[in-house]
This record gives sequence, structure tokens and C-alpha cells, in this order.
Amino acid sequence: MVILAVESTAHTLSIALLDETGRVLVEERDQLTTSEGGLIPIKIQEHHLSVLPHLLKRVREKAGRAWHDISRIALSTAPGIGHALRVGLITTVHLANRLHIPLIPVHHGLAHLTSGLLLTESRNAVLVYTSGANTQLYTYYDDWLSLVGETLDMSLGNMLDSIARLLGLGFPGGPQLERLAREGKTLLELPYTVKGMDIAYGGFYTAVKRLIEAGRPAADIALSVQEYAFAMLLEAAERAMALYDADTLILIGGVALNERFARMAGMLTASRNARLLIPPRHVLGDNAIMIGLEALRRETCEGFTPLPPARIPAEVQPYARIPTRMHYARCLTLNREHLTPGKV
Ligand code: ATP
Ligand code: FE2
Repeated sequence: MVILAVESTAHTLSIALLDETGRVLVEERDQLTTSEGGLIPIKIQEHHLSVLPHLLKRVREKAGRAWHDISRIALSTAPGIGHALRVGLITTVHLANRLHIPLIPVHHGLAHLTSGLLLTESRNAVLVYTSGANTQLYTYYDDWLSLVGETLDMSLGNMLDSIARLLGLGFPGGPQLERLAREGKTLLELPYTVKGMDIAYGGFYTAVKRLIEAGRPAADIALSVQEYAFAMLLEAAERAMALYDADTLILIGGVALNERFARMAGMLTASRNARLLIPPRHVLGDNAIMIGLEALRRETCEGFTPLPPARIPAEVQPYARIPTRMHYARCLTLNREHLTPGKV
């Protein structure tokens, strides 16, 4: 069995092929970036539609014979930006009709969680999912996933992107701020808002805006934003680990690409004698690999029956959330080599 997976919820269009063991055969992606300003939905759609034929061609060429063994198509139907989601929906339904194969719809956020959970055997972990639209803490215990904390307003990634935009740095802003922070020398004072296992970044964002308006050096601002914002989230994560006695901390989502964030999380887990798990870099930001993995888990571990194209709802769900508490069957454990295209 080969699964063709498509990710198209936001800025990135990605297509991957995986086999029935979760081994990644091929993955190709293209991310929309800007040099100034943020993302405009119609521009994302134009981007995805223009790169789609090239990505498909490259995947097909690299796949060789495996292309003919495709027997499932995985797609992310929720949540995301409507304009982007629709490109994925139309593409996958069209391909499913052409190839006469069924589809497995998956939730993009759950796919991010799966990209971490399949890489560990821990049965008692805390997950920090922090990306463009979400900042959430989950516990995974005994095949149950529970939301135990989250941002009360902005997500961390969105806040970093918004600050970068104020500084004229373009999208995605997180990596640009990370580069700038390396040149920072002085830690500027900023608000620190942690409420149990929830955090809030709205007032923090306003305070940063004031520092920018006051003309403080951009590098010092970037340094301070990272130190405070990451410390807040990790304080909440540590509280969750202590409360639930977790043995593993898993970082997932695009913000986990940040080396300072990873180092701070490493200090936290070392002090608790716990393990830190961060999936390989190419699986942290949006990608079709995690969409394929979640589809595989859904079918193999949850017994989900793939749907014929006519059973896929014609409209996408931009706002669907992961249930606050849900049963999460995990019957596969992968190693990092599985996730490297063409390896193993
Ligand atoms: P969601 O998964 O919540 O729907 P998304 O899919 O848009 O949101 P991801 O692709 O997982 O999010 O992550 C994108 C976010 O990661 C952006 O906000 C981006 O700025 C941030 N990011 C990427 N690299 C870094 C980095 N090196 N440091 C900090 N943030 C980063
Ligand atoms: Fe994402």
C-alpha cells in the first residue's frame, strides 16, 4: 500500500508518498514567503495552484513504480485558510477519481501531534504544539489525548510573525527574529503572563509594539521577545509535566524549529530527568509527511474506512478544533530514518 498525502492548509503546499509502514518514499514542498507584510488568502491560493503541477511532476518522477501502487489519498480538510484548503480538496478528490482510490481526511493539528507521538514509546508525555495558528499543551496518557493548556489569545507563531511584520521583516517572521536575536545584547523588560497552564501573548504584543515605536534596537527586541515568550510557554509546559508526572516533553509545530526554544526546553527536561523529543526539522513546519502519517494511524490503529470521493464533503472546515479530550490509538512506532525521504 502506498499513501499519497497532500498538505494545503496554509502557506505550504506539500505532497508526499508513504508506504504502509510509515516509511517516507518522496516528499516535495513549496512554501509561500514574503519579503514584507503577511499572507493574503488569494495570494496563497494563486501560489498553490501555480506550484501544484511542478510538485506533482517531481513526486511522480521520484516515485517511479511506487506511483502505480498508490491505494489511498490523505488530505487535510481542517483547520486552515479556506482558500488554501480548497486547493488541497479539489486536487485530492480529482486524483482519487482519476486513480479510482479512496480518501482519508485528517485534521491538520492532529497530524502535527502524530508527527511527534509516533516517534516515542512514551505513554506519558506532554506535547507543546506551537505553530502559526495554535499554541497548545496536550497530555498523552494511556491512549488519551487531553488539552491541558493553551494561549488565551494570540498563538506564539502568529505573535512572532506579527512582530516581524512591524519590523518590516516579511513572512515567516519566526526565523527572521531568530537570526536577529543572535545579535541582541540587552534584555528589555516585557510583561510575563502565565495563568496556570494557560498563557496570554496579547498584552505582550502591545508592549513589544511600544518598544518598537520607542526606537529600541531591533536585535535587543528580538532577543527579549524570544526569552520571555519561550519562558512563559515552557513554564506552563513544566507545570503540566509536574502535575501529570510526564516522562517526555515533545515539541511540535513550526516554532519548534527555533534553536533557542529547543535549548531552553532541553534545560527544562534535563532538570526534571525527563526526555526531550523534537521530530526532524523537515517534519516540524507544515508538510505532507505528517498528513500521511495521521491517515495511516487513523486507518491502521483506529480502524477508519477510507472514503470514496463522493463521501468527502464539498466544503472545507477552516475552524475545526481537536476535541479537548479524545481517545488516540497508537499502534505504530517509527524511527527518525522512516521520515527521511528515500531512506531505510
Ligand atoms: P497551525 O499548525 O497552527 O495551523 P501553521 O500550519 O501555519 O499553523 P506551522 O507551519 O506549523 O504553522 O508553523 C509556522 C510558524 O512557525 C510561523 O509562525 C513561523 O514564523 C514559525 N517558525 C518557523 N520557523 C521558526 C523559527 N526558527 N523560530 C520561531 N518560529 C518559527
Ligand atoms: Fe501547521
